[in-house]
Amino acid sequence: MKKIIALLLAVVCASVCFAGCDKASDESSATSGEKETLTIATSPDFPPFESLEGEEVVGIEVELVKLICADIGMDYEFVQIDFDSVLLGVQSGKYTCGMSGITVNDDRKENMLFTDPYYIAAQVIVVKEDSTIASKADLEGKTVSVQTGTTAEEGCGDAGIAVEAFAQNADAKAALTTGKVDAWVVDNLTAIQMVVEGDGLKILEENLTEEPYALAFAKGNEELVEKINASLKTLIDNGSVEKIFTDFGETYVKPE
Ligand code: ARG
Repeated sequence: MKKIIALLLAVVCASVCFAGCDKASDESSATSGEKETLTIATSPDFPPFESLEGEEVVGIEVELVKLICADIGMDYEFVQIDFDSVLLGVQSGKYTCGMSGITVNDDRKENMLFTDPYYIAAQVIVVKEDSTIASKADLEGKTVSVQTGTTAEEGCGDAGIAVEAFAQNADAKAALTTGKVDAWVVDNLTAIQMVVEGDGLKILEENLTEEPYALAFAKGNEELVEKINASLKTLIDNGSVEKIFTDFGETYVKPE
């Protein structure tokens, strides 16, 4: 009998506690309002940073955004568009945020805000296994495929190399496999992910660049970017960002 009473008491206590908790959370949401949703434009053709699994956007940057948003108390939603539209959409303020393995550079900084960088990437050259191209110098007089609007397009163009630009990364790769171009220039981890056995392709060892990745924001979001930077710093310092990379089987290259 005692046991039953004790049990009943426990149940009553627990339900009172839960009711109390519910009330507390109701009140706090009443005062703080609904969570704000961050609209993030992304081009999910860039593994391991963002790609599609069915209809779902997955990847290193998705995990990063999850951690940041949990930390700053925001919800997020993705809008899937081509990479060059991500940049244009953030520049025009159509989208608050761009998440696409976006390289920070001075030109882009004129039109967008960037968070602090969270990773250092590089561009690499991909060629057919039997290609005689062995370095950047060998690209002279050749045609390379790139993704439209990327730093690869800009860098190759500046170097006087003929480029064919494609809205989708997969098409830039296909241009090489089908022999339309002599090489494909793309970011290093994406090359490693997208070049698979049986493609007849190889990635040259030389790194063409060193480029920091960050999340991009429309101007006017300075306060939000500051908040995110604080969160990002914690996540980098406490090893959470490195853990995302290792969970994806990648080596983390931390910005200095
Ligand atoms: N890092 C390069 C750039 O910023 C390429 C990014 C491409 N991203 C993508 N999601 N397809 O230009």
